[in-house]
Amino acid sequence: AVRYRKQTIDHERIASYAFAFDIDGVIVRGPETIPEAREALRMLNGHNKYNIKVPYIFITNGGGRSEKARCKDLSKRLGITVTEDQVIQGHTPMKDLVPAYKNVLVVGGVLDSCRKVAQDYGFDNVYIPLDVMKWNPSVTPYYQLSEEEKSVARDVDFSKISIDAILVFADSRNWAADQQIILEILLSKNGVMGTVAQDPSENHVGLYFAHSDFVWATDYGLSRYGMGALQVSIAALYQEHTGRELQVTRFGKPQRGTFRFAEKVLTNWRRNTLSEHVENLSLEDAGLSDSDDDDDDDDDDDSNNASESEPLTLQKDSKLSLELPPASTVYFVGDTPESDIRFANSHDSSWFSILVKTGVFQDNKIPKYTPKQICDDVLEAVKFAIEREH
Ligand code: G3P
Ligand code: MG
Repeated sequence: AVRYRKQTIDHERIASYAFAFDIDGVIVRGPETIPEAREALRMLNGHNKYNIKVPYIFITNGGGRSEKARCKDLSKRLGITVTEDQVIQGHTPMKDLVPAYKNVLVVGGVLDSCRKVAQDYGFDNVYIPLDVMKWNPSVTPYYQLSEEEKSVARDVDFSKISIDAILVFADSRNWAADQQIILEILLSKNGVMGTVAQDPSENHVGLYFAHSDFVWATDYGLSRYGMGALQVSIAALYQEHTGRELQVTRFGKPQRGTFRFAEKVLTNWRRNTLSEHVENLSLEDAGLSDSDDDDDDDDDDDSNNASESEPLTLQKDSKLSLELPPASTVYFVGDTPESDIRFANSHDSSWFSILVKTGVFQDNKIPKYTPKQICDDVLEAVKFAIEREH
C-alpha cells in the first residue's frame, strides 16, 4: 500500500463511500437553487468535522442541454467545480445509439438545443420537429412557427427522408405538434412523412425516451407533467389508432441501463478523485521500510479497523495504477419515489436511498417505493449519511 505523509492524510482523506444526487427537487427547483444544497456539497468537499472528502456524482433525468452546459450551471449555483464526468443526464446514455441510426428526429428542449446535443454525441443527421413544420406548415394546422423558430429550422424535404429513430431527449415545449409528428412517423411507411404503412407492424422506427417521469418538481407549488406523461398520451393515441401496444425504449432512472452507466461513471470519478488526491500528496516509494515511522498513532490507512468509514488506501505499482474496490455504500438522494427511490433500491444492495421533501414527494403521502431514510432536505441527508458512516 502506498504510504503518504501523516500531516497530509490527517488533513484530508477520501471516503470509501460515495454520493449520487438527483438534481430537480433536490439541488434546484426551476430557476431557484435549493438553499441547503451549497452547504451540503461543501461538506462533501472536505468541510466536515472528519476532514474527509466524499466523491459524488449527479444523476438527473433532466436534459435538453449539453453535459458541459449543465456542469457550468451547477458549478455556478453551488460555488464548486462540477465536471462533465460527474454528470449523467436522461439522454446521456443515448450516445450509445449513434452507431445504430443514421437519420434521427430529436424531440424536446428549447428551439434547436437538443439538435446540438445530439450532434455533439455524434449522430449524423439530426432533425427536429421545427424542421418538419417548416417543410410543410400544414402538418400542424393550428400552429404557426415564430420568426425565431423559423430561424433555427432547416430546409429539408421530408418526403425524401427516412427517419430511423425518434429520440425524445427533453420535455416537449409543444405537445400538440410533437405528438402529431411522432405519431405520423410511427404510422408511416419506413419513417417517411406523408406516407402510411399498410400494417403498423411494418413500421420499424425506434422510439426512445430519455426518461419516464410522470411529474417533476419546478418552482410552482404543485408538480408538473413530465416526459412520462407525454409517453402515456402518445401510447394512448397509438393504441386508439392501431389497437396495438406502443413499443418504447426507456432510459433514465429507474432503468437498469442507466444504473449500469451510473456505476461506471461513479467508479471513474472515484478513481479520478483518488489519483488527483495522490498527485497532491508527497508520496514515499512503496516498500520503503521507514514508512511506518511517521505513522505512529495514525492507523487511518491500516486495515485492522474494518469500519465502513475507513478511508481508501491505494495499491501502487511503478506507474501508480489504482486498484479501486467498489464504494462501500452509495447514498442516493432523490425527491421522486417512482424514479429515484425505485432506482436506488432495485439494482444493488450497497446503494442507500434517501428521500427528501423538497420536490415531488409530499410529506403527507406514503411513498410508493420505500426509502431507507427520509430527510427534510439535501443537507440533512448529507449530515445523516456522514454520521452513519463515522
Ligand atoms: O425533466 C426533468 C425531470 O423530469 C426530473 O429531473 O433531476 O429530478 O431527475 P431530476
Ligand atoms: Mg428529482
